[in-house]
Amino acid sequence: MKTVKALVLASAASMFIAGAAFAQDATPPGEKPVDPYTQSPANAGAAPLPDPATFQAFKGKEGLARIASDLVDRSIADPRIKEIFATTDVPRLKRTLTEQFCYVLGGGCVYTGRDMAAVHKDMGVTNKDFNALVENLQWAMDKEGVPFAVQNKLLAKLAPMQRTVVER
Ligand code: HEM
Repeated sequence: MKTVKALVLASAASMFIAGAAFAQDATPPGEKPVDPYTQSPANAGAAPLPDPATFQAFKGKEGLARIASDLVDRSIADPRIKEIFATTDVPRLKRTLTEQFCYVLGGGCVYTGRDMAAVHKDMGVTNKDFNALVENLQWAMDKEGVPFAVQNKLLAKLAPMQRTVVER
């Protein structure tokens, strides 16, 4: 009986030690954990527009899904920036981008992705890369027939994220 008790205690102690070591590994001192992340509307990087008029002018979530999909397809084939997307989970990116656009335009979607700093950390994105992506977004919005003034509402929401995404 004594041996059993000792064994239980020893294994509980080793589990505790292993747990403590794992917690330390997951979050190196001085760094924010990158993954796993806490789902939050704040991860979308901008407050939503107060009324859904702009969201509707984008033809709702379906219009935004087409724009996100075209943006991603064009960017992963774009010789200027395609290297950066070499290991990207494309269906996930299309889904979370659609959610983000929908959320910031007041469409009431839930954004399930990570925050902009964590996502783009260590990608080495330059201002040139950023401008290439914005050009691809403008191309996708033109293709969808979104009026220029409406396009600018989305660009205005995304522009302040440039300083978070660009690293060099
Ligand atoms: C304002 C501009 C930008 C916004 C709003 C944005 C938004 C996002 C979002 C929502 C995700 C998915 C997050 C998730 O699923 O957890 C993502 C991922 C990604 N973004 Fe951006 N992004 C921007 C600029 C850029 C630029 C300029 C590049 C490179 C040229 C870039 C490269 C990537 C890549 C490669 C991923 C996939 C990361 C992975 O696979 O883990 N992004 N971005």
